[in-house]
Amino acid sequence: MTEDAIKALDENDPLRPYRARFDLPSGVIYLDGNSLGPPPRAALERLQQTASFEWRQGLIASWNDARWIDLSNIAGAKIARLIGVAAEDVIVADSVSVNIFKFAAALSEDGRALCVETGEFPTDGYVLSGLAHLADRTLSSVPWSDAPAFEEPCVLVKSLVHYKTAALADIAAWESAALAAGASIIWDLSHATGVIDCRLKENGARYAVGCSYKYLNGGPGAPSFVYVASPESERLRQPIAGWMGHAAPFDFSGDYVPAPGVKRFAAGTPPILSLAALDAALDVFKDLDMRLAEEKARALADLFLQRTAPLGLEVASVAAGRRGGHVCLEFNAGYAVVSALIARGVIGDFRAPDLMRFGFSPLFLSFDEVARAADHLSEVMKTQEWRDPAFNIRKRVT
Ligand SMILES: Cc1ncc(COP(=O)(O)O)c(C=O)c1O
Repeated sequence: MTEDAIKALDENDPLRPYRARFDLPSGVIYLDGNSLGPPPRAALERLQQTASFEWRQGLIASWNDARWIDLSNIAGAKIARLIGVAAEDVIVADSVSVNIFKFAAALSEDGRALCVETGEFPTDGYVLSGLAHLADRTLSSVPWSDAPAFEEPCVLVKSLVHYKTAALADIAAWESAALAAGASIIWDLSHATGVIDCRLKENGARYAVGCSYKYLNGGPGAPSFVYVASPESERLRQPIAGWMGHAAPFDFSGDYVPAPGVKRFAAGTPPILSLAALDAALDVFKDLDMRLAEEKARALADLFLQRTAPLGLEVASVAAGRRGGHVCLEFNAGYAVVSALIARGVIGDFRAPDLMRFGFSPLFLSFDEVARAADHLSEVMKTQEWRDPAFNIRKRVT
């Protein structure tokens, strides 16, 4: 693509105004918004306000006066719009790992087997295996597939967007196969929310969890969210029956009575500082058309793949068509290449054993930046800059 064509893409980009809402360091091209989104300016301001006024001045009264007690629902309702479900069917609570545990335990109470695909994000399988051990459930590992099929009525945890391949599952097809087989799917939306037009309700999804620190820009360790379709939640008994999921926590009753709806998936006291930052970050998405976001992410990734194609690297993700917001290129010294790129201000990440992963957040990246990032990668590869021993020292977080 010519430089003029790239310029035209940026000039005509309907999402261009969003960039100004983020506080990104200068000299950085950030291709890691799929791992940790950068801070929206509003989130930084909100953190300041929550700490200095609501906590410092308001003290404990802020649970009522600043509506801290409702914040899990308030933020949940904002996420609900993005994933295409009713506002009252989503809350923010705990981590994805913990929420998978709650869901899988509740759904498998009837004795159905737990199920995970090979190559799924590891925590999903780890949690199911821990639950299987604790509760004496069967755990089956099935090969990853994009053709929905169930061999038995089971509880399957499945990513909507695969963290390595970016493969995007067909929710409607999986849900109808699940219904026919008496199976339930817990959708892990971690790599989808904020970048994919998920339309969960329209496609029949009943249960979902997801991260808020990736494309939603909620901040490091921002809490996860939980979605349960309304009538379903009333029959689910999640095992971490903490007081925040009680119908009347401040009655301090000796008996546990689950709150109506998805609220019963709350457990302990919510992390208000993180939740406040997330709540403000979600306002960035207020009027966003998710279809436009998904299309732009794909167009950015397509440009990156076209421009790096002459390098001849294996594309380990979906190379063309509908996919999540990231791509992976395979190279045995991928860690060193990613480190060399970071030294040049182009931030991606590395996924062992040999994948260089680049995320294309549509709200703050321009086509020009993506073209520049691709040029940096080409130079690092051609000059073999990555051979510098400094780029080969593996850090704990990659
Ligand atoms: C697909 C997927 N699921 C789960 C997680 C882990 O989520 P948490 O740390 O909130 O448990 C991640 C983290 O990157 C992820 O990518």
